[in-house]
Amino acid sequence: MTKAEAGAPPHTELKPETKVTTAGRNPHAHHGYVNTPVYHASTLLYRTAEDYIAGNGRYSYGRQGTPTSEALETAVQEIEGPQCAAVALLPSGLAAISTALLSILQTGDHVLVSDSAYGPARTFCDNVLERYGIETTYYDPAIGAGIAALMRPNTAAVYTESPGSLTFEMQDIPAIAAAAHEHGALVLMDNTWAGPLYFKALDKGVDLSIQSGTKYIGGHSDAMIGIVSASKAAAQRLKDTAYSMGLCLGPGDMNMALRGLRTLAVRLRQHQASGLKVAEWLSKRPEVLKVLHPGLPGAPGHDIWKRDYLGASGLFAFVLKPVPQKAVLAFLNGLSLYGLGASWGGFESLAIPVDATRTATKFDPGGPSIRLHIGLEDVGDLIADLERGFAALAAAR
Ligand SMILES: Cc1ncc(COP(=O)(O)O)c(C=O)c1O
Repeated sequence: MTKAEAGAPPHTELKPETKVTTAGRNPHAHHGYVNTPVYHASTLLYRTAEDYIAGNGRYSYGRQGTPTSEALETAVQEIEGPQCAAVALLPSGLAAISTALLSILQTGDHVLVSDSAYGPARTFCDNVLERYGIETTYYDPAIGAGIAALMRPNTAAVYTESPGSLTFEMQDIPAIAAAAHEHGALVLMDNTWAGPLYFKALDKGVDLSIQSGTKYIGGHSDAMIGIVSASKAAAQRLKDTAYSMGLCLGPGDMNMALRGLRTLAVRLRQHQASGLKVAEWLSKRPEVLKVLHPGLPGAPGHDIWKRDYLGASGLFAFVLKPVPQKAVLAFLNGLSLYGLGASWGGFESLAIPVDATRTATKFDPGGPSIRLHIGLEDVGDLIADLERGFAALAAAR
């Protein structure tokens, strides 16, 4: 018995901060080294011809798993909790989305997709699923239990993203999941915004919980990572699909994900605190019509967030009172600490103008909308930078 095993509490009782530092680690299986080694591996050799023919051994080929991929899968599974029956590691968040959809759907099926879904997920449905005879209907993200009315006999899946990563509408996931399951459909969710520390997607009825690990898990804007966690009902199909499509994550990026996981809880706590502080500050600015941050009391979706979520990340948007486009651009160009870039979840702050594609509903918040990712810089410096942006906006009106 190792020191860690002797008298350790059952893993399910550990707090999130403890879980992320211990999950998936087994130092004494690796000569005592704290971290699992990074296996750069394809071919695996057998000792004898008999062993080769019988396929004797724990591993068989780099694509099919190494101690490094196992460490990451186990870590994610432990963090997700007991409802998680399988984890697939993919080369990007978008690959996680497409693999999750393909593992559930087949020709002749119908899928319901939230109108607030990440743009490239929509493109995958419109281009690839359509080509394979799978029909997509986009629905109002605020639909809740009303999703039942959109179910057709061939509706096999409901795809959700909460909050929408550009428009920040919260979805009533338990109500949607109950209606979908009643109909025999499975539920997919892009849970990148909150991740498993702040939203227990599988406990709330989701069957395939998708994360772009590129964001908070990697956490440093230097790796592309996709992760899908599956309920028992979806586990085998997910594993079979990822395996048949030859999808795997590179060992360097697995290591980035494992390394990022260890500090995820403490980083998220800071993203949350600074994000809420900036959101509150913005909500009092005369130039701002409203702030779209589910964790902010009074903001749209706050009730659902409070009921279902354990925390908020650092991504949200705010809506300016109507100003000419050149004033919006002057605001963005007037910022020096916020990079102008589309991804998020790294240590650094970002700002972009929001341009949301919708087909089932209209996103019309009443003015130009700007999305911020609040990073790990000093929050006073970040607020001072926004002040400079507002000065540039005023000068350009
Ligand atoms: C909500 C959301 N889901 C998925 C993705 C795709 O992730 P990746 O960039 O790792 O492919 C993104 C990327 O911006 C995203 O914002």
